[in-house]
Amino acid sequence: MSGMNDELLALSGLDDGWLDRRVFWDRDVYELELERIFARCWLFVAHESQLPKPGAFITTWMGEDNVLVVRRRDGSIGAYLNSCPHRGNRVCTAEVGTARGFVCNYHGWSFGLDGGLTGVHESAAFGREPGFDRSRLGLTPVAQLDTYKGLVFATFDPGAPPLRDYLGDFAFYLDVILDNDEGGTEFAGGSIKSVLGCNWKIAAENFAGDALHAGWTHASGAEAMLGRGVPDLGAEDAESYHVNANGHCWEFNLDGVGNAATLGDPRVMAYLRDHEKRFAERLGALRARMVGSISSVNVFPNFSFLPGQNTFRTWQPKGPHRTELHTWVLVNRNAPQDVKDAWRKGAMMTFSPSGVFEMDDGENWELATRSNAGVVTRKQRLYYGLGSGTAIEHPELPGNVHRGQINDANQRAFYRRWSQLLRARTWDEAAS
Ligand code: FES
Ligand SMILES: [Fe+2]
Repeated sequence: MSGMNDELLALSGLDDGWLDRRVFWDRDVYELELERIFARCWLFVAHESQLPKPGAFITTWMGEDNVLVVRRRDGSIGAYLNSCPHRGNRVCTAEVGTARGFVCNYHGWSFGLDGGLTGVHESAAFGREPGFDRSRLGLTPVAQLDTYKGLVFATFDPGAPPLRDYLGDFAFYLDVILDNDEGGTEFAGGSIKSVLGCNWKIAAENFAGDALHAGWTHASGAEAMLGRGVPDLGAEDAESYHVNANGHCWEFNLDGVGNAATLGDPRVMAYLRDHEKRFAERLGALRARMVGSISSVNVFPNFSFLPGQNTFRTWQPKGPHRTELHTWVLVNRNAPQDVKDAWRKGAMMTFSPSGVFEMDDGENWELATRSNAGVVTRKQRLYYGLGSGTAIEHPELPGNVHRGQINDANQRAFYRRWSQLLRARTWDEAAS
């Protein structure tokens, strides 16, 4: 790594509130992100409900590596590189489905649900080869796969800490949305993909902490859709927070339903109101007020969601200036069907490629990325200084807690984690 990169990756101005724009533009930085973040971190690959029975599969991305995620015959979940060990062709070209196995389109090698090579075309010829060993020619599995309350994560790094340690204190917050009901959660059917001409981190940092943009970027959209703007969130005594742990970030207030209200559906609001007491029994009074509140979340590095709207999404990197967005809608499994439908449709009207708020965001992120093309512009630093001095100890909230959701504290935490991982050769070195 060049000296210039060492200095760049250290992000030395960050604690004072400054970020180097090269992190959004430089191709060497991007390649290192693929190696040291996307090939090492635990990445979200599926919700268990997407793999309801043996043979159910989806294909998705871990960095720029395409992976095949499969429910195996014994009920366990496997994930493999979706690339044939013969000439590298993609083995499964579908994005979702059910199969008894997978046959490569090029020369007809076939693979079982466990990834093993089950058959080859012209098997007599291969059989005469002393070096041909089927057991060594299966699909390459990920190094580790684990679930947290319905969410399936995988990592390519055998040395990565266990998923539960990777999530750390952030699991406490994830339970707000994943465990507020005894029936657990599922993804509503279907998903939407779109492509943004932006760096993946601009989207991830927006969900990590950018409550600031909501009242400005989305003011007109909120007025058009709901007949009212977005409330000011920055009062000094506002009951709101930035919290983060291991680079995972959640910004929120405690209004209970502010995000959910943007769906404009009385069934969603009634469901939240009717379940307030049950949420509190499971989560305690404080977390119960986070279930649908004005808030946004990013699980490091690229898995985001919005409580209330319940849009879940991955920002898949496709080069430093291009991101593929894949979205789903999470619902409580035990919710009545009409409530699930209301959530699904509401999410499409707010946060989908045709959703009012998604379009607002995308334009800003693309212009913020493209402006760094200028050789003079890209040498200027960006200001991330909001909320210095807001760190607090909170009796109920674990992790790093900052008061006030109009804050850059989570964005700084996101980039601090990014910097640690890009510079560290081992997980011990990257310990936060
Ligand atoms: S590339 Fe898959 S069988 Fe040849
Ligand atoms: Fe937004």
